[in-house]
Amino acid sequence: MHNLHIKENKPVVFQELTLEKFRDLMKRYPEGRQKSALVPILLIAQEQTGGFLTVDVLDEIASILQIKPIEVYEVATFYSMFSLGRVGKYVIELCRTGPCAMCGGEEILGYLRNKLRIDVGETTADGLFTLRTVECLAACGNAPVLQVNTEFYEKLTPEKIDRLIDELKSKAGKPIPFEETWAGKFC
Ligand code: FES
Repeated sequence: MHNLHIKENKPVVFQELTLEKFRDLMKRYPEGRQKSALVPILLIAQEQTGGFLTVDVLDEIASILQIKPIEVYEVATFYSMFSLGRVGKYVIELCRTGPCAMCGGEEILGYLRNKLRIDVGETTADGLFTLRTVECLAACGNAPVLQVNTEFYEKLTPEKIDRLIDELKSKAGKPIPFEETWAGKFC
């Protein structure tokens, strides 16, 4: 069953600061065009509700934006940065488009799979890392490239991957700094 069929009817309550951020984002667009704020609002909602979007959260966003739930479902299911199921604290998205592939991206993918002992689409048993492949991250000049949550890592080598994974593991028990969250990015 697709996760979009699972509605738990759990109340979704965003903190007042988060709602304020949503209102700020909506104000950036003309009256009646508040749907234009949907992507940043979904990104913030996702990180504030455990890293993935439930139907209840999507419905609450629809209600906040005063649009139909289907309009939110369409966006949440189209873009690769939205998760409709549980993911790790760190979502690693490796670019697999041509320029990155030609600059060693495939080797980096193999290295990551071996290092994390998971395949694409899986999450490590400790709940820390989810591995995904995505299309061009728009940083082709510094290929190969990956994104972890909001942060980019470029000109990847196995040594850089080792350092990155070690660094993320060392921060595993701490909250992600505000400036590295979507809420922080959309200030
Ligand atoms: S091809 Fe990888 S960032 Fe563009």
